[in-house]
Amino acid sequence: MKQIFPGIYSINNKLATVNSTPGLKIFGEFLITVEGKEFRQWDPNRSKAGAAIVKGIKEFPIKEGSVILYLGIAHGFTASYLSDIIGSTGMLYGVEFSDRCFNDLLPVVEKRSNILPILADARMIEDYKNTVIEKVDVVYCDIAQRDQTEIAIRNCKEFLKPKGYLMLAIKTQSIDVTRSSKEVVKEEIEKVVQAGFKIIDWKMLEPFEDKHGFVLAKMG
Ligand SMILES: C[S@@+](CC[C@H](N)C(=O)[O-])C[C@H]1O[C@@H](n2cnc3c(N)ncnc32)[C@H](O)[C@@H]1O
Repeated sequence: MKQIFPGIYSINNKLATVNSTPGLKIFGEFLITVEGKEFRQWDPNRSKAGAAIVKGIKEFPIKEGSVILYLGIAHGFTASYLSDIIGSTGMLYGVEFSDRCFNDLLPVVEKRSNILPILADARMIEDYKNTVIEKVDVVYCDIAQRDQTEIAIRNCKEFLKPKGYLMLAIKTQSIDVTRSSKEVVKEEIEKVVQAGFKIIDWKMLEPFEDKHGFVLAKMG
């Protein structure tokens, strides 16, 4: 077993986190016990954050105690691993606008008290401004919309602490199908820089996610 980042491990070359709900798996993931601790295998084919780690992203700013605003939490697959990492002293506010995904998410958050699900559109900050009651360390955005970068930046301006991080998954097909994915990602990166962020690292996510990029940026 090797630690890749705080709370994130490689066991037999597979990504894993310590299971904060021992004995419980919700997504059919493998559970492995090493040195008396139960770990959940984290499949990078199902998670852009997982794919970015396996592709060698330089830094991973989410750690024990982090407060995260997660836009596009869906059924909570990636969020469940982030919940393992942040532990009981951290908090993840998860915004999702699809009723169907939100219903799938509920059994996941029932077992994880550090995730607060919010049924809302990430474009409508006013609708959840009073629910996200603190400034966050990280805005994580994976919403696959044409204006995904602009939405992420607006949420950062409202909720991110000074020197906080933006983690942005970019589905290039939602933005422009005519240009190369890398070109589209570079243009989105330029918007992030123009908004006052410093780019820490970015990766294209092939072969785990086709036509997706992942950007890690720091405010200020
Ligand atoms: C690619 S999926 C996210 C997968 C998830 N991040 C994971 O790794 O487990 C994108 C999600 O964003 C949601 N979404 C898209 N636009 C949104 C918006 N404007 N506000 C809130 N959720 C949105 C979709 O309903 C969908 O569930």
